[in-house]
This record gives sequence, structure tokens and C-alpha cells, in this order.
Amino acid sequence: MPHRSTAESTENAHIFKGSDLYEDQDMKHFDERKNMVDLHSHHIPMDRSDRFAFRTVKFMRFFADKFFAKRYGHRAVVLETVAAVPGMVGGLLQHLKAIRHIRDDQGWIKELLDEADNERMHLMTFIQIAEPTRFERLLIMVGQAVFYNLYFWTYLFAPKTAHRIVGYLEEEAVVSYTQYLEEIDAGRVENVPAPQIALDYWKLPIGARLREVVEVIRKDEAHHRDTNHDFANQIVARAAP
Ligand SMILES: [Fe+2]
Ligand SMILES: [Fe+2]
Repeated sequence: MPHRSTAESTENAHIFKGSDLYEDQDMKHFDERKNMVDLHSHHIPMDRSDRFAFRTVKFMRFFADKFFAKRYGHRAVVLETVAAVPGMVGGLLQHLKAIRHIRDDQGWIKELLDEADNERMHLMTFIQIAEPTRFERLLIMVGQAVFYNLYFWTYLFAPKTAHRIVGYLEEEAVVSYTQYLEEIDAGRVENVPAPQIALDYWKLPIGARLREVVEVIRKDEAHHRDTNHDFANQIVARAAP
């Protein structure tokens, strides 16, 4: 398998979805182990399209690092507006394909639309934590116009590359949220109380703070990472719908 991963994870880590974790809304029963993810999972690029996807994401990461540096709240708001696009585009195109070929979608449409919805909830959470500047709002507008179109045409003609790009974007998201957690732990980012929207959506325990929110979001990103790499692998193996 082309995936490389190291310990620091629990088995089945990315199987849990954020919203089905906490039945007992009490902080003392908060089980951090459920939020552990494989932090180092990486798909080693296997062919030209993988290398293209990997370099594209690293190129985007370079600019994100330059622009946001350690402003992780602002980084999250702007990048989550981008992250919420691929699932909706992929879901739409898989839906059209399924009805065009009158064929079962093997659950891909729901998975992709769920991903888009989940990313939108990340955005709705972080907007409670960081208010984008006017320039960042402009960046979001322009970014959506460009990224939506680029991703649409990429998915239409090269769906495997499109899923691989998202897989690599999500690898970077896991890295960024890990760095965010380090800033919180070091006291450089205030560990504010979790917004109500996050408590409700992830059913977080009462008393949860930003740290718990970032942890569950990082777990979601790891799930998207593994799903998108898996979808790309299925296209290669001709097992895709
Ligand atoms: Fe996200
Ligand atoms: Fe994501």
C-alpha cells in the first residue's frame, strides 16, 4: 500500500466521525483517546498525477505559510472556505455521473456531500473565533471564484488527481491544526471557551474549550484525508463507481 503511517495513532482512529463521539456531556468523561488520529499518514506519490497533486498542494502551502504565519484562527477561516468546495463539486459530478450512466454511486455522493457540510461547520465554528479582515474577505471571494472553477474542471477530466489534491490538502490541514494545538498548549493562543455551535455539532462536553474543538476538527480532516486518498486509489484500481 502506498500509505505510510507511524505510531502515535490509535487503531481505527479515523473511523469515528466528530458528531457521534460524546454521549455524556460532562468534561470529566471527555475521552481524549477518541480524538487521536494518525498524524503522519502520507500517501507517497506514485505517478505523475500524484506528483502534480503533491507539488500543487506544497505550492499552496508555501503561500498560506507566508500570508498567515502563526495567525491560525484567520488561517482556519480563510482556508475552510476553500476546503468546503471540493466535496460539493465532487458530489455534484458523481451525482451527474450516476444518473447519466444509471449506475450505483457506491456511497460516494453522500460521503462527498457530508465532507462539504462538515467543512462548512468548521468555517461556522472558526468565524466565532477569528473575524476575517476586509482583505481576507476579498481573498475569500477571489479564491472561491478561481478555486471552484479550477477544481470543477480538474474533477471533470481528472477525478483521480482531484481526489489526490484533496488528500494532500488534508494532510496539510492535519499538520496546521497540530501546530495550532501546540500554540494553544504553549499559551501563545488563548484557550477560549468553545463556541456554542461547536458544542452542539460535535456534542462536546460542557466546559470544552478551543483545544477540544481543534482536536475534533483535526480528526475530521484526517478522515477527509484518508477518504480522498482512498477514492483516488479506487479510481486507479478501477474500483470506483
Ligand atoms: Fe476543515
Ligand atoms: Fe478537510
